[in-house]
Amino acid sequence: MNPILQVEKIAKQYGGLRAVDDVSLTLELGEVVGLIGPNGSGKTTFVNLITGYVEPTSGTVTLGGTDVTARSPHRLAQAGVGRTYQVPRLFSSLSIVENIEAALLFVRRQPQIWRVLTPRTGRASLRREAIELLDMVGMAHVADRGAASLSLGESRRVEIARGLAAARRILVLDEPVAGLQGEDAMNVGRLIAETARARDIGVIVIEHNVPLVRRFCDRLVVLNLGRVIAAGPCEDVVRMPQVVEAYIGKEASGSHGRS
Ligand SMILES: Nc1ncnc2c1ncn2[C@@H]1O[C@H](COP(=O)(O)OP(=O)(O)O)[C@@H](O)[C@H]1O
Ligand SMILES: [Mg+2]
Repeated sequence: MNPILQVEKIAKQYGGLRAVDDVSLTLELGEVVGLIGPNGSGKTTFVNLITGYVEPTSGTVTLGGTDVTARSPHRLAQAGVGRTYQVPRLFSSLSIVENIEAALLFVRRQPQIWRVLTPRTGRASLRREAIELLDMVGMAHVADRGAASLSLGESRRVEIARGLAAARRILVLDEPVAGLQGEDAMNVGRLIAETARARDIGVIVIEHNVPLVRRFCDRLVVLNLGRVIAAGPCEDVVRMPQVVEAYIGKEASGSHGRS
């Protein structure tokens, strides 16, 4: 099977620091891959490299057989790459549904003014599409509320809907449950896994919560100091000594922080 995403030896050098050091990864449609690793191991930089926010020092990114290395975030969004951010970036002055509409317009390269100038039928179909995405994350019933009124858990869900606006092929989630606890975190994890299958897209999810990734990811890739130190099925990877030492051990000893 041809992977939808193929990353070959991607690297990012910041001065003397190799934040991402020749990382390779493949992703299939319908698959959820967890990217874990301690603070500063290069997870966010990796995501920025494959979504066009950071230009690689070397290496290639291939999407559906096309070389998309160093394409702009905009062009990657148009090519079907959606993402979310470690810190939610919703427009607080817009309603929830308007946030999703804005993302859909961004993907289509239509300016915001389109929402005002376009005929009513066009606006209605944009709204319908946005509501559909909100429905997928269980937020359609509050579509017209202001985005500023969202709790953290709700804004994490709306962020995922916003990422889905572009994610025809892949969705990249940077710590989508950060700040959520217990059931709230598990529910968002379940939502991510169900969405990947329902929409048949590939998902890469950065996550600190090991029990959560074990439950909802098909495979894990572990980074440490910018390099892949382990990769494979979740149950194998979490038992590998180098992983226990680099990641889980640190967390268990309480020295693990958040970035
Ligand atoms: N723009 C930047 N300039 C210089 N160093 C950076 C930059 N972005 C990230 N880094 C460094 O790269 C390393 C990896 O960071 P990051 O990708 O944010 O890790 P993670 O998301 O795994 O916590 C860290 O040492 C960080 O300080
Ligand atoms: Mg990070």
